[in-house]
Order: sequence, then C-alpha cells, then structure tokens
Amino acid sequence: MSEDIRIVEVGPRDGLQAESVALSASIRAEFVDLLVKAGLKSIEVGSFVSPRHVPQMADTAGVLAQLRRPGEARRIALVPNLQGLEAAINAGVDEVAVFASASETFSRRNINCSVDESIERFKPIFARLEGTMPVRGYVSCAFGCPYEGQVPVSAVTSLARRLAELGCYEVSVADTIGVATPRDTKAIAEAVAGEIGASRVALHFHDTRGQALANTYASLETGIRTFDCSVAGLGGCPFAAGATGNVATEDVVYMLHGMGLSTGIDLPALIEAGEFVSRHLGRRTGSRVARAEQARVAA
Ligand code: HMG
Ligand code: MG
Repeated sequence: MSEDIRIVEVGPRDGLQAESVALSASIRAEFVDLLVKAGLKSIEVGSFVSPRHVPQMADTAGVLAQLRRPGEARRIALVPNLQGLEAAINAGVDEVAVFASASETFSRRNINCSVDESIERFKPIFARLEGTMPVRGYVSCAFGCPYEGQVPVSAVTSLARRLAELGCYEVSVADTIGVATPRDTKAIAEAVAGEIGASRVALHFHDTRGQALANTYASLETGIRTFDCSVAGLGGCPFAAGATGNVATEDVVYMLHGMGLSTGIDLPALIEAGEFVSRHLGRRTGSRVARAEQARVAA
C-alpha cells in the first residue's frame, strides 16, 4: 500500500463559504499562497456559484488573479453549471469540481434541482472541456442527509459511478453533516471503491461529531489515499444546518506523519496558514494540533 497520502485542501472554499465573516479577495489570495508555501499541491481556491446564494465566494476570480505562487499547486474551483465553468476557465483555474448529492432534498436545497437534473447540468461541462482539464466530482450526503436522514448505500455507489462515467477522475465521498462512524466509513468506502476503484475515491469528512480523525484512520485501512481537509477546521455548508467545518488539515497531517505516512506538507507552515486565516476571521482555530502548539509556545 502506498505511503504517500494526497491532501486536497478545501479551506479557502468549503471553509470560507460558511464563515460569517466574508474575507476580501486579497486576503483569500494571501491565505492560498500560505497554503502553497506549506506544501499543499491541490487547493480548492473558491467556487463559481451564485454570489446571491454564497456571498463569501464572490470574486473567486479576484482571488485567482492575485495569487503570488501560481503553478506550484493545482488550483481547483467548484462549479455547479456551464456558467460557473466559463467563469472558472476565464479566471485561469487548473481543475474544476462538480457536486451532486446522494439525497434528493439536499440536492434541491443546495443547487435548486434534482439529482438527475444536476447530472444533466454537468454534461455540457464535460462536453465544453473535452478532456482539457481534470474534473473532480462530489457525492454529498453520502453518510446521511440533514433532511432525509439515512441515505441508502446504493444511492451513493450509483451516483459515484455516474460521476466517474461522466469523466470525473476522482469522486470525493462527503460526510456533509459529520454523522459517520468508522464502521459506516469502511462500509461506504469499500462499496464505492468496489464500484470505481480505490485510487479514484477521496473522502471528505466534516467533523461535526468529532469522528473525522477516526473515520480517516478507518478509510486508510480500506486503501483510500486521498482526503479533503480544511486548515483550522474552517467552515461547514450553508445549506446543511448545524454542519461544522471539515476535519482540520493540521490534525490529519499530524496523525499521518505520526503513522510514518508522507504528505509533503510542512506542519509548522500549515499551522501558520491556519493562524493567518483564523486571525482574519476573528475566531479561534478549530485545529487541536494548532491549539496545542499555541499553548506550547505561550508556556
Ligand atoms: P438557480 O437559481 O437554480 O439558477 O441557482 P438559475 O440558472 O435559475 O439562475 C439564477 C441566477 O443565478 C441567475 O442570476 C444566474 O445568472 C445566476 P440572475 O439572473 O437572477 O441575476 N447563476 C450564477 N451566478 C454565478 N455563478 C454561477 C451561476 N449560475 C447561475 N455558476 C445555482 C442554481 C447552482 C447557481 C445556485 O443554487 C447556487 O449558486 N447554489 C450555491 C451552491 C453552493 O455553492 N453550495 C455550497 C457548496 S457545495 C458543498 O459545500 C458540499 C461539498 O463541500 C461536499 C459536502 O461536504 O457535501 C462540496
Ligand atoms: Mg463539504
């Protein structure tokens, strides 16, 4: 099994989209630059969605335009439709991510269409790109839905297969509301890996109930090697009430390095990036590792 773990940093998108303070494009760009400096190679820099729905993600083009270290990391943006894709291409992204839900109600609340309609909206994206840019796909609510409760495993596996067949090189299976435990994680990770292959599966844990590190460990045991994380544990989802941020990147990196696995990430530099963004948001970091480091320095 590979000892290299790929971290997809989603803090500048999933994190900042759900913070009550909206940061300027220049602060967001500085934040992304610090993440690049820390060694992150895949970063979701923002989204091209309706600014009326998600004002925190307005002017993602401005973020991309102000990056000082382009070329050192893959700059990914979330796009819900062709309109978002065109804006993302014009802004110079390296990769886009499309997002669908394993539950119908969340699909309607999040992107105002059914699951089938969302797939139809993605088709022109692939047609327009003709393979010129990698596309990632998300399956939201894979472990439970804030509106429908339990979600059948078959809904998750069939959506993952549809996304892979459309052309997504990787499918990120998301615990949007942080309900999964290690047993569910293993079951879903194995089922999706059985459908599209473990090397095409990423896991995306929100840490609402404090299970995300345990779930990360459980997924490693099933052969998954890609994880989405958010520095300082930023964020949540504005369309899933009560959802908190993704698992903190610092905490995942600390665990992985402690297990002898490599990420290519410089933990002290990552902690600095988390401190930078937390300071600008006027909040305490959600990373336990960063808090321990702050306490150590203060002692
Ligand atoms: P709609 O209202 O159904 O779309 O929104 P519409 O096509 O009827 O357009 C309505 C208006 O939106 C129009 O503007 C369009 O121009 C505009 P108006 O004429 O009213 O001024 N519009 C856009 N503007 C900017 N960029 C676009 C775009 N498309 C249309 N791409 C839409 C549909 C998807 C746009 C809307 O519902 C939306 O933006 N939703 C926000 C979705 C979102 O960002 N959710 C959070 C991210 S997903 C997430 O966090 C989950 C994830 O982390 C995994 C997990 O944890 O589960 C990925
Ligand atoms: Mg998310």
